[in-house]
Amino acid sequence: MAVFTKNGSVALIRIQNPPMNALKHAVRAAITDNIKKANEDPSVRSIVLHGDGRVFSAGADIKEFQSGKNLGEPGLIKVIHTIENSSKPVVAAIHGVAFGGGLELALGSHYRLIDSKARVAFPEVNIGILPAATGSQRLPRVTDLASAVEMCTTGMPVSAKKALEKGIVDKVIYGDILSEAISFAKTVESKPVGPRRVSTLKVKGKEISSAVFDGAIGPLLNVKALEAAVNSDSYEEGLEKEASLVQALFFSGQSRALQYAFFSERKLPKWETPGGSVNYKNTTPMALKEAAVIGGGTMGSGIAACFISSGIPVKLVEVNQEYLDKTLSGIRKIVQRNVEKGRLSQEKAGQQLSLLRGTLDYNELRNVDIVIEAVFENMDLKKKIFRRLDQTCKPSAILASNTSGLDIDQMASVTSRPEKVVGTHFFSPAHVMKLLENIRGKWTSPETMATVMELGKKLQKISVLVGNCPHFVGNRMLGPYVREASYLLEEGALPHEVDQVLEDFGFAMGAFKVGDLAGNDVGYKGRKDFGFITREGQEDRFRQGYRYCPIADFLVERGRLGQKSGKGWYNYGKPGGRVPQPDPEVEKLIIESSEKAGFKRRRISPQEILERCLYSLINEGFKTLEENIASRQEDIDMIWLYGYGWPRHTGGPMYYAKNFVGLDKIYERLLYYQALNPDVKHWEPSNLLASEGLKGRMSISRL
Ligand code: NAI
Repeated sequence: MAVFTKNGSVALIRIQNPPMNALKHAVRAAITDNIKKANEDPSVRSIVLHGDGRVFSAGADIKEFQSGKNLGEPGLIKVIHTIENSSKPVVAAIHGVAFGGGLELALGSHYRLIDSKARVAFPEVNIGILPAATGSQRLPRVTDLASAVEMCTTGMPVSAKKALEKGIVDKVIYGDILSEAISFAKTVESKPVGPRRVSTLKVKGKEISSAVFDGAIGPLLNVKALEAAVNSDSYEEGLEKEASLVQALFFSGQSRALQYAFFSERKLPKWETPGGSVNYKNTTPMALKEAAVIGGGTMGSGIAACFISSGIPVKLVEVNQEYLDKTLSGIRKIVQRNVEKGRLSQEKAGQQLSLLRGTLDYNELRNVDIVIEAVFENMDLKKKIFRRLDQTCKPSAILASNTSGLDIDQMASVTSRPEKVVGTHFFSPAHVMKLLENIRGKWTSPETMATVMELGKKLQKISVLVGNCPHFVGNRMLGPYVREASYLLEEGALPHEVDQVLEDFGFAMGAFKVGDLAGNDVGYKGRKDFGFITREGQEDRFRQGYRYCPIADFLVERGRLGQKSGKGWYNYGKPGGRVPQPDPEVEKLIIESSEKAGFKRRRISPQEILERCLYSLINEGFKTLEENIASRQEDIDMIWLYGYGWPRHTGGPMYYAKNFVGLDKIYERLLYYQALNPDVKHWEPSNLLASEGLKGRMSISRL
């Protein structure tokens, strides 16, 4: 847990809890004991605290908070005070990372040396808490307040060089950190430790920089803790405030939800099919040395950019030279923008672009290992392309589709290799959005599943494996949400009112703003293919016996496609404009349309708007679990966090349903809305949500 050795007059205390040297109880106890031992040993004159393996320490053991076990003494605060009170100087030798409690340990030490490649951070805010083992009181004593606010409210890591500039460490080491720390320790042996105790230093500066506040209370209370450092008369008084603030956070639902999100994300690479028979352990992915993308539109160009930025050569196929040139220049722009933003060197950009090849000739795809089809959302076209790819590509090649909702099995059925056919559903813009929803068809082999999950990892995506059904998991759940939003318009609400409620809940954008951003024509084209469109003047408001709201169709037919045409649900001033203004023309259209359909418009409360949009979506999520489309509730929640901007501090729709609202309440409201709207299919409650059996499957997330 912590190993004690000596090098002449220097005692070495090595934190040992691989892989991240989390500061669990046994580690804390061992550090305290060893500090005492070093102080009692007359041959020791200084102490070096360092970490075994890859890192100094990544901080507290979050599993301990969650289980509530092993929280006893010595707590981290006591360990830090033992270090600081040592009469012999303690030098923290940081390599890899000193995050959270790890950085607090280092700030408890009298000197801090850091390996040039190491980083420090207070990432507590990401799980809804704050650096509460003296960190919020110590950081503003070594660095300026603006930097402390930034570190505590964003959780972003700071490089060794920056940490030195900010005063968080004393020296950057370019050689061997441990031997340098030992030499350094020897030079400070006769110096008094008193002035080196951070708790005795004055807080730097009094101005608080404006903090990022996004609806989560975590960042706010991080600022409050730093404020306490400024305003308290003593370090001890500040510590008391730090403790009461973190208590407030610990017991808030937000912190638990953020911790759930943290663990759920880490569970995704351990993917499995429902029931677990095929999983990450019993499958082996194929090597992917070269890829191809068919169609260089919005999605294809972003997907190709993902491949090259991960070092995988890609061939991009378009229908003619003009389109090909256009898409290649678009991809070059994406790469160049990364250079301009300082994320990529010009040399690396050149290397990436050398991996890109545009072509009009399918014969060039003979040797690729995977093809991702991203042509128009049309089954006949996709089938034609799958047939052609099947004839051209080597037998081992995987044929994937980026369809946002069409049947993967139909595409597989036209090939001689259905076990190699799979869905890889990227989100727009594909080079930015983190989510990759991979779809297993009924014939998709375990090896193919493993390969696309591994591909997600290579492309640095958050990948989730789901089953094949219309619109898969994310877009399937989006359906009822968007439909409810439009029904609300017919009954009395306006687009900006609905969006406001959704944004207050925590979505970055409401449903109508998202529609305008994505382009209202996208859904329209899909509906048109199914013969679903209603034109103005026609009063057809039912589809297959269920309620249908045609207002979105009317908008598209009036040329209101969204931001790209300057007008959609909102007015953006000019094509490509981004600032939405409510538009009287749209409001008139909505009011006339609801009158024609016989609705008596009424004021709709924010509560009703929220319930109808969210509960219908949640119910659909339960159906995907019930039908074995989604394997686990965490998969659904991560799809919504990373693909649709669901607010992280509520954990995701399934977690929110269970922990913030209660399934009994949701069930009751589903029955209520179903009784009022027998013509709306999505109010039919999921059996899983309704049944007792649900409890067993939900228990995986009991946090
Ligand atoms: P898009 O219309 O921007 O691009 C389609 C491209 O495919 C065009 O450049 C077209 O020239 C090309 N193409 C058509 N037939 C071709 C052929 N035979 N060979 C080679 N290229 C051909 O469409 P977008 O938006 O990129 O969508 C592509 C696919 O991705 C669709 O299946 C769509 O449902 C799906 N998708 C779209 C999302 C979006 O937000 N736009 C999000 C996720 C999936």
